[in-house]
Amino acid sequence: MEVICYPHPTLRYPAKPIQRVDKELREVIAEMFRLMYEHKGVGLAANQVGVPLRLFVMNESGKLGQGKELVFINPVVTKPRGNEEMEEGCLSLPGVNANVVRPKTIFFNAYSHTGEEVKGDVTGYMARIIQHEVDHLDGVLFVDRLSPSVRNSIDSDMYTLELDHQSKQKTGLLKSDEELLNESKVWQEKYC
Ligand code: NI
Repeated sequence: MEVICYPHPTLRYPAKPIQRVDKELREVIAEMFRLMYEHKGVGLAANQVGVPLRLFVMNESGKLGQGKELVFINPVVTKPRGNEEMEEGCLSLPGVNANVVRPKTIFFNAYSHTGEEVKGDVTGYMARIIQHEVDHLDGVLFVDRLSPSVRNSIDSDMYTLELDHQSKQKTGLLKSDEELLNESKVWQEKYC
């Protein structure tokens, strides 16, 4: 498994709810944590590794052995309150960072990989990460939430990623968008 980058089509395809968790899916979760630490992220959504299921992992500290590892299965965000601007980046948009305005406080509920319900009010950094990751599961990227002027300022970075994707497809390093999407749907047949 590897972290896929914009404009990979799986990032734009809404992930589907998970009906069951088995050994293979727990191995996917372990691999997601490994990749998240390797790329120095604080959160990673399953569709960022080509698995279009409603699942993400996070560790606010971003470091293995520190902070708390959390697994969110079928997360739902409600009761957004307040507003806050904070700089965001994304492992699927390497080199792109920008300030994003989002609700400061939210309520969330989800299931852990052991089937326990987790829920609560969260604010600040943790609320930020949860909203960013749930966006991923809906096929939304943080760059979709920028004001037009800020979005313009990162246009060339986005274009560079698009060219890279196209050149990989032309040279056969990456399959076509259609094949990539079909490949990812196998996960939904198994777990949805
Ligand atoms: Ni991201």
